[in-house]
Amino acid sequence: AIERTLSIIKPDAVAKNVIGKIYDRFESAGLKIVASRMAHLSQNEAEQFYGVHKDRPFFKDLVNFMISGPVMIQVLQGEGAIAKNRDLMGATDPKKAEKGTIRADFADSIDANAVHGSDAPETAAVEVAFFFPGMNVFNR
Ligand code: CMP
Repeated sequence: AIERTLSIIKPDAVAKNVIGKIYDRFESAGLKIVASRMAHLSQNEAEQFYGVHKDRPFFKDLVNFMISGPVMIQVLQGEGAIAKNRDLMGATDPKKAEKGTIRADFADSIDANAVHGSDAPETAAVEVAFFFPGMNVFNR
Protein backbone atom coordinates (compact mmCIF):
# COMPACT_ATOMS: atom_id res chain seq x y z
CA ALA A 1 0.00 0.00 0.00
CA ILE A 2 1.03 3.62 -0.51
CA GLU A 3 2.01 4.92 2.93
CA ARG A 4 3.34 8.08 4.50
CA THR A 5 6.03 8.11 7.17
CA LEU A 6 7.64 10.82 9.27
CA SER A 7 11.38 11.22 8.86
CA ILE A 8 13.73 13.48 10.81
CA ILE A 9 17.31 14.24 9.82
CA LYS A 10 18.81 14.79 13.27
CA PRO A 11 21.18 17.58 14.42
CA ASP A 12 24.33 15.48 13.84
CA ALA A 13 23.54 14.86 10.15
CA VAL A 14 22.38 18.45 9.56
CA ALA A 15 25.69 19.65 11.07
CA LYS A 16 27.58 17.25 8.79
CA ASN A 17 25.95 18.89 5.77
CA VAL A 18 24.46 15.66 4.41
CA ILE A 19 20.77 16.59 4.07
CA GLY A 20 21.05 16.30 0.28
CA LYS A 21 22.85 12.97 0.40
CA ILE A 22 20.14 11.57 2.68
CA TYR A 23 17.37 13.01 0.48
CA ASP A 24 19.00 11.26 -2.48
CA ARG A 25 18.71 7.92 -0.64
CA PHE A 26 14.98 8.50 -0.13
CA GLU A 27 14.39 9.55 -3.73
CA SER A 28 16.56 6.81 -5.24
CA ALA A 29 14.51 4.26 -3.29
CA GLY A 30 11.30 5.63 -4.78
CA LEU A 31 10.17 7.59 -1.73
CA LYS A 32 8.70 10.99 -2.50
CA ILE A 33 9.24 13.96 -0.16
CA VAL A 34 5.70 15.34 0.10
CA ALA A 35 6.32 17.81 2.96
CA SER A 36 9.43 19.20 4.60
CA ARG A 37 10.60 21.90 6.98
CA MET A 38 13.67 22.76 9.00
CA ALA A 39 13.19 23.47 12.70
CA HIS A 40 15.14 23.92 15.90
CA LEU A 41 12.95 21.99 18.34
CA SER A 42 12.14 23.36 21.77
CA GLN A 43 12.62 21.11 24.79
CA ASN A 44 8.85 20.89 25.11
CA GLU A 45 8.40 19.80 21.48
CA ALA A 46 11.15 17.16 21.74
CA GLU A 47 9.73 15.80 25.00
CA GLN A 48 6.26 15.60 23.47
CA PHE A 49 7.45 14.00 20.24
CA TYR A 50 9.41 11.32 22.11
CA GLY A 51 6.76 10.97 24.85
CA VAL A 52 6.59 7.19 24.41
CA HIS A 53 10.19 7.01 25.66
CA LYS A 54 9.71 9.27 28.70
CA ASP A 55 10.41 6.50 31.24
CA ARG A 56 13.47 5.13 29.42
CA PRO A 57 16.92 5.83 30.88
CA PHE A 58 18.07 7.50 27.65
CA PHE A 59 15.17 9.98 27.49
CA LYS A 60 17.00 13.04 28.88
CA ASP A 61 20.06 12.54 26.63
CA LEU A 62 17.78 11.94 23.64
CA VAL A 63 15.85 15.17 24.22
CA ASN A 64 19.03 17.19 24.85
CA PHE A 65 20.56 15.85 21.67
CA MET A 66 17.46 16.56 19.58
CA ILE A 67 17.44 20.22 20.70
CA SER A 68 21.19 20.69 20.22
CA GLY A 69 20.78 22.08 16.69
CA PRO A 70 18.37 22.32 13.77
CA VAL A 71 16.69 19.24 12.32
CA MET A 72 15.14 18.61 8.89
CA ILE A 73 11.68 17.08 9.12
CA GLN A 74 9.92 15.44 6.18
CA VAL A 75 7.02 13.25 5.19
CA LEU A 76 8.01 10.44 2.83
CA GLN A 77 5.37 8.83 0.66
CA GLY A 78 5.49 5.65 -1.37
CA GLU A 79 4.80 1.96 -1.58
CA GLY A 80 5.53 0.46 1.86
CA ALA A 81 7.15 3.77 2.88
CA ILE A 82 7.39 2.93 6.59
CA ALA A 83 9.38 -0.29 6.19
CA LYS A 84 11.32 1.05 3.20
CA ASN A 85 12.52 4.04 5.21
CA ARG A 86 13.51 1.78 8.11
CA ASP A 87 15.51 -0.39 5.71
CA LEU A 88 17.25 2.69 4.33
CA MET A 89 18.07 3.91 7.87
CA GLY A 90 19.48 0.64 9.21
CA ALA A 91 19.63 -0.42 12.87
CA THR A 92 19.13 2.20 15.61
CA ASP A 93 22.69 1.61 16.81
CA PRO A 94 24.98 2.57 13.91
CA LYS A 95 27.52 -0.04 15.05
CA LYS A 96 24.88 -2.68 14.25
CA ALA A 97 23.60 -1.05 11.06
CA GLU A 98 24.22 -2.85 7.77
CA LYS A 99 26.73 -1.42 5.32
CA GLY A 100 25.21 1.04 2.90
CA THR A 101 22.47 2.18 5.27
CA ILE A 102 22.12 5.83 6.29
CA ARG A 103 23.14 5.14 9.88
CA ALA A 104 26.13 3.01 8.93
CA ASP A 105 27.35 5.72 6.57
CA PHE A 106 26.52 8.93 8.45
CA ALA A 107 25.91 8.18 12.17
CA ASP A 108 28.34 8.08 15.10
CA SER A 109 26.42 6.73 18.10
CA ILE A 110 23.04 5.44 19.21
CA ASP A 111 22.07 9.00 20.20
CA ALA A 112 23.69 10.81 17.28
CA ASN A 113 22.21 8.34 14.83
CA ALA A 114 21.48 10.70 11.92
CA VAL A 115 17.81 9.93 11.30
CA HIS A 116 14.49 9.04 12.87
CA GLY A 117 11.71 7.18 11.08
CA SER A 118 8.24 6.13 12.20
CA ASP A 119 8.07 2.44 13.13
CA ALA A 120 4.44 1.55 12.31
CA PRO A 121 1.32 2.96 10.59
CA GLU A 122 -0.17 4.13 13.89
CA THR A 123 2.95 6.02 14.97
CA ALA A 124 3.45 7.37 11.44
CA ALA A 125 -0.01 8.97 11.50
CA VAL A 126 0.60 10.51 14.94
CA GLU A 127 4.11 11.72 14.04
CA VAL A 128 3.10 13.22 10.68
CA ALA A 129 0.22 15.07 12.40
CA PHE A 130 2.58 16.29 15.14
CA PHE A 131 4.85 18.16 12.74
CA PHE A 132 2.46 18.79 9.84
CA PRO A 133 -0.89 19.34 11.53
CA GLY A 134 -2.46 20.65 8.33
CA MET A 135 -1.76 17.43 6.50
CA ASN A 136 -4.60 14.95 6.57
CA VAL A 137 -3.52 11.34 6.35
CA PHE A 138 -6.02 9.08 4.63
CA ASN A 139 -3.90 6.11 3.75
CA ARG A 140 -6.26 3.19 3.90
P1 CMP B 1 14.87 7.17 17.19
O1 CMP B 1 14.45 6.30 16.08
O2 CMP B 1 14.87 8.63 16.96
O3 CMP B 1 13.94 6.85 18.46
C1 CMP B 1 14.37 7.04 19.79
C2 CMP B 1 15.84 7.34 19.89
O4 CMP B 1 16.42 7.14 21.16
C3 CMP B 1 16.61 6.41 18.98
O5 CMP B 1 16.37 6.76 17.64
C4 CMP B 1 18.04 6.62 19.49
O6 CMP B 1 18.69 7.71 18.86
C5 CMP B 1 17.81 6.97 20.97
N1 CMP B 1 18.32 5.93 21.87
C6 CMP B 1 19.33 6.07 22.75
N2 CMP B 1 19.54 4.94 23.43
C7 CMP B 1 18.64 4.03 22.97
C8 CMP B 1 18.37 2.67 23.26
N3 CMP B 1 19.04 1.99 24.20
N4 CMP B 1 17.37 2.06 22.57
C9 CMP B 1 16.66 2.73 21.64
N5 CMP B 1 16.87 4.01 21.32
C10 CMP B 1 17.86 4.67 21.96
